[in-house]
Amino acid sequence: MFTSDVLKGRVALITGGAGGIGFEIAATYARLGAKVMVASRNQERLDGAVTALATEGLTIQAIRTDVRNYEEVQSAVATTVSQYGGLDILVNNAAGNFHCPTADLSPNGWRTVIDIDLNGTFYGCHAAYPHLKKSEYGGCIISIATMLGLSGWPGAAHAGAAKAGIISLTRTLAVEWGDDQIRVNTISPGPIGDTEGVRRLYQETGREELERKKTALGRFGKKSDIANAAVYLASDLGQYITGENLVVDGGRWLKYVAA
Ligand SMILES: NC(=O)c1ccc[n+]([C@@H]2O[C@H](COP(=O)([O-])OP(=O)(O)OC[C@H]3O[C@@H](n4cnc5c(N)ncnc54)[C@H](OP(=O)(O)O)[C@@H]3O)[C@@H](O)[C@H]2O)c1
Repeated sequence: MFTSDVLKGRVALITGGAGGIGFEIAATYARLGAKVMVASRNQERLDGAVTALATEGLTIQAIRTDVRNYEEVQSAVATTVSQYGGLDILVNNAAGNFHCPTADLSPNGWRTVIDIDLNGTFYGCHAAYPHLKKSEYGGCIISIATMLGLSGWPGAAHAGAAKAGIISLTRTLAVEWGDDQIRVNTISPGPIGDTEGVRRLYQETGREELERKKTALGRFGKKSDIANAAVYLASDLGQYITGENLVVDGGRWLKYVAA
């Protein structure tokens, strides 16, 4: 759908980029000409991602990183810059979540998800900033959120609060870093059918049909829907978009509010 050089020459660092939606973004970016670094904790998964894309002849590297650790995030950014000569795009995609009613949620469980999702996103933005502002294309940050951050997320207060924080952080940075020509946006996916999370949460629990019906379009999204949105925002096609939360959810949140 995009011309094959739409991201040519750009360097992208993608957290949680070895699996799920993050890997789909990494693969799509690489196919469209970007030089990609993926960063997450599981070395086997990282190796698998590099091997899978190497067979297509695509440029991708991996670095073991826990986004809860600021030094490790700084090191992932520094390695990306030293390997590829700069940094143009940061995608904060890494996240953790588990279902738990808030009354039963331990402070440690709360802290863990806030640490990965919200603190990890801040660490990425903060460590990447000096490099993004040198980008010849204009730096770009995309963080993956969800509208459940804004509506509230019964059974996942920790993840909902973290995603709301990410959307707020994004709007703040869009203004603070606008003069540096860095664009800062979020994408809010709805239920993405070809992910482990939706398989576990909805398909294995018999709630698939119910959850499909909650979307205006009556169907789940695909990982490629999110990757395409991430290309649009990172490329020149989105060069006047900043501080935006691009909702890619088949009309789920609107139906939730309107119906
Ligand atoms: N799936 C959906 O329907 C859906 C809907 C709305 C929003 N989202 C959002 O979309 C993004 C991707 O979702 P997904 O379904 O693809 O999730 P996923 O398959 O669980 O992927 C999450 C990734 O984050 C990495 N990660 C977790 N903790 C980390 C840490 N401490 N440091 C570094 N990396 C870490 C994981 O890799 P390691 O385990 O190797 O570290 C994994 O690759 C998330 O932000 C999620 O909240 C998803």
